Order: sequence, then structure tokens, then C-alpha cells
Amino acid sequence: MNTDTILPLSLDNLSFRIDGKKLINNLSHRFNAGSKTIILGPNGAGKSLLLRLCHGLLEPTSGSVAWHADPAHKQAMVFQRPVMLRRSVAANVDYALSLKGLDPRTRAIRTGKVLERTGLAHLAHHQARVLSFGEQQKLALARAWALKPQVLFLDEPTASLDPAATHAIEDVIKAIDGSGTRIIMTTHDLAQAKRLADDVLFIHRGELLESAPAESFFTRPNDPQARAFLEGQLLWWNNPETGTEMQ
Ligand SMILES: Nc1ncnc2c1ncn2[C@@H]1O[C@H](COP(=O)(O)OP(=O)(O)OP(=O)(O)O)[C@@H](O)[C@H]1O
Ligand SMILES: [Mg+2]
Repeated sequence: MNTDTILPLSLDNLSFRIDGKKLINNLSHRFNAGSKTIILGPNGAGKSLLLRLCHGLLEPTSGSVAWHADPAHKQAMVFQRPVMLRRSVAANVDYALSLKGLDPRTRAIRTGKVLERTGLAHLAHHQARVLSFGEQQKLALARAWALKPQVLFLDEPTASLDPAATHAIEDVIKAIDGSGTRIIMTTHDLAQAKRLADDVLFIHRGELLESAPAESFFTRPNDPQARAFLEGQLLWWNNPETGTEMQ
């Protein structure tokens, strides 16, 4: 097996513009090997766009996204609204594995294991599309985990879930982290970021305003906008630096 590590992932002056609007603006960062990074920021900050650029679904307008080694088949992403195939829960995982060219026996073993570990084994033969949102989100995670990616991008994996389902998903994320997969995840949920982050990137209006270990970010944020966000202020109309309204 090819065990080349694909990290670090380097973003160099990354920009993404549509109709002249700077949706991601000159963003530079290096994702090293490590644990769970949370990309935190208010709605519309550019979190989903940033993940899509990292995953390779979008081409930057300028700047670059560079992996240490070819990331093909070694990084995966779970979307904010995952799409389930019109087949059983197990077949959804199996199909993802078949795209990787794995043989049926390996696929069956991996599928069984991952459904067990995500608490979905009892639903293996149910139609994926009749699952609850929380179960579908678990299946999306299971499907990605089965691929054993080195890096897994998660875009708001608990958006619109209730607290119990949110905690169940967070447990799965911790298990994936425990298995050695590097997690890079977005959220606008501060409490969730505090529960999961080892380090934090704070973005606002397409700009990376702060990057810090979780402990220092949550106790001593440097950036005034990050401080405002942590204090629960509404960043899109309140400018903490001037106290005036932003356009
Ligand atoms: N295809 C597009 N065309 C024009 N504008 C876009 C496009 N995609 C995203 N945007 C804009 O870019 C900004 C960032 O969007 P993005 O989805 O990355 O935000 P986000 O931080 O993920 O927000 P949320 O927390 O609501 O998911 C938003 O203002 C959005 O309207
Ligand atoms: Mg988003």
C-alpha cells in the first residue's frame, strides 16, 4: 500500500472571486499533521467555499492549494447536505468503496465495521433515503470513514440536528480522529467548536483573521472580530473596532 503522507496542505495567497466579489481573500495557511482543526466563522464567512477549494472542487481565482503528495483517494469530504444514493445503507458505503477499486470481500468487511462503529448496523438493509437527518449524516460520515482517508473535510456536519443527534455525530467525529484521520471541519457553532477543536481558524468575510491553538483562541483571542464573535455579537452589522455599522 502507498503510505505517502499527503500533509502538510499549504494554502498560499488563496483567493476566490465571483463577479469581482472577494469571497475568499488572500488566505494563507499550512495544515500540518495533527488533530482536529475547526474553521469557525459566522454564516456567509466563506467556510464552505474554503473547504471546497481545499478539497479541489473549486479552482482558486488566484493563489494555490498544494499538498505534500498526490491526494487522490487520500482525502474525502462530507457536505453540509449529503446526498444519499437510492439504495440501502450498506450499499451506499459499498458503492463508495467500489469506486476505490476494492474487492467485494474487503468492501463487505469495511462496510460492516464502519456501520457498527457509527451505530448504524441495525439499519444496514434499510433504504438510505428514509433515514432521519441525523442517521443520514452518520451514514455520510460512515461512507467517508470507510475510505480511510488521511484527511477528512467536514462541512457543518451537525447543522440542523437536535442536541442528542449532534452529540452522537460528535462522538463519531472523535472516533474518526482516534483512528488517525486528520479532521478539518467547519462550524458556526461556538459551543461545538469548544467541544471539538484542537486548533481554530477564525474566518470572517473571506479573510483568515486568526489561527491559534484552541485553548489560546478561546481564552485570549487576538483579533477584535474573533473576540466579538466569542462574545456573541452579530459580526455582520456590528464592527467591534469602531462601534459603527458595517456596510
Ligand atoms: N456560487 C456563488 N456565487 C456567488 N456567491 C457565492 C457563491 N457561493 C458562495 N457565495 C457567497 O460567498 C459567501 C460565503 O459562502 P459560504 O457558503 O462559503 O459561507 P459559509 O461560511 O459556509 O456560511 P454558512 O455558515 O451559512 O454555511 C456568501 O456570501 C455566499 O453568498
Ligand atoms: Mg457553509
